Amino acid sequence: MKLVSAIIKPFKLDDVREALSEIGIQGITVTEVKGFGRQKGHTELYRGAEYVVDFLPKVKLEAAVDDPMVDQVIEAITSVANTGKIGDGKIFVSPLEQVIRIRTGETGKDAV
Ligand SMILES: Nc1ncnc2c1ncn2[C@@H]1O[C@H](COP(=O)(O)OP(=O)(O)OP(=O)(O)O)[C@@H](O)[C@H]1O
Ligand SMILES: [Mg+2]
Repeated sequence: MKLVSAIIKPFKLDDVREALSEIGIQGITVTEVKGFGRQKGHTELYRGAEYVVDFLPKVKLEAAVDDPMVDQVIEAITSVANTGKIGDGKIFVSPLEQVIRIRTGETGKDAV
């Protein structure tokens, strides 16, 4: 299993959620975050205005996925969240040791 964490532009969240749902992803966690990439936030636009601070609002989306799904998840996120402009975000993929569904005690891929 992998933990796929994606930092995306906030206005792309609904489309990304829909795309993930379409390929069968059954759960995601979303957090409002702030960050900067290599332009350090300075030259990015947010809601039409140039942001003067270093940190820009982003959304972090996390999904625990079984290995065979990882490429599809990455493809779904990149195709939907890509505007071609700076600040589109990044996807981080990390190994995931274990998942436990609290209600049933199921573990591993049965629990994702
Ligand atoms: N190396 C990193 N580690 C952790 N978070 C990062 C990293 N790079 C980017 N981020 C997060 O992703 C967000 C978007 O990054 P961004 O897309 O601007 O990356 P970039 O490398 O500057 O690419 P681009 O040139 O396309 O803008 C940042 O605001 C930050 O929250
Ligand atoms: Mg950037």
